[in-house]
Amino acid sequence: MPLTVNNRTAEHPIDPMFLERWSPRAYDGQPVPREDLMTMLEAARWAPSSYNSQPWRFLYAIKDGPHWERFLGLLVEGNRTWCKNAGALLVLLSKSTMAVPGKEGEVPSHSHSHDAGAGWAYFALQAMRMGYPAHGMVGFDMDRAFAELGVPIGYRVEQMIAVGRRGDPALLSESARAREQPNTRRPLSESVFEGAFPTS
Ligand SMILES: Cc1cc2nc3c(=O)[nH]c(=O)nc-3n(C[C@H](O)[C@H](O)[C@H](O)COP(=O)(O)O)c2cc1C
Repeated sequence: MPLTVNNRTAEHPIDPMFLERWSPRAYDGQPVPREDLMTMLEAARWAPSSYNSQPWRFLYAIKDGPHWERFLGLLVEGNRTWCKNAGALLVLLSKSTMAVPGKEGEVPSHSHSHDAGAGWAYFALQAMRMGYPAHGMVGFDMDRAFAELGVPIGYRVEQMIAVGRRGDPALLSESARAREQPNTRRPLSESVFEGAFPTS
């Protein structure tokens, strides 16, 4: 019996948490308690990374806290309109160099962004388990994030994250409301190939 959750059907048996996680836009406007946010970040901490370099860095602002308006102001209008009701906003950075055993100083990391992405995935899955949907975003001003958040040279601004308790979709803009449902995925056979990349 194929697993269906949120109108999403898995082709193969998986833990339901992968289908349960999705990215809504309707949030309830309540701040995420700091301890809950730390639990989500703790999960991200245990993501795997090349040479255990842990290149992720998370900057955060809790709703209506001292950094809230600055983080909200980085977003493009289309994201700001719904993110104003999120319970926390985060900016995910990755460090582009790492220490490698046996090598002097820092060397470029091939996978810093990729590893930070694993951290984001762990964060999002933990958050959803706690009843807090998280929503990744690249719709923000990365240059301003870099400058205004004091990001050191050698770090890449990867994405922002909105997280919070689910709110009433009726309060969303019409276009956001129309998209407020879990989406699906292309078939596994279009993403996975045994051996070399297919020629056709
Ligand atoms: C790195 C990243 C950037 C994204 N940027 C945006 C964004 O700027 N605005 C937005 O509304 N959704 C954004 N999304 C959400 C994706 O559209 C969403 O994850 C995708 O459609 C899959 O849907 P699901 O997360 O509900 O499974 C982003 C997601 C990721 C992971």
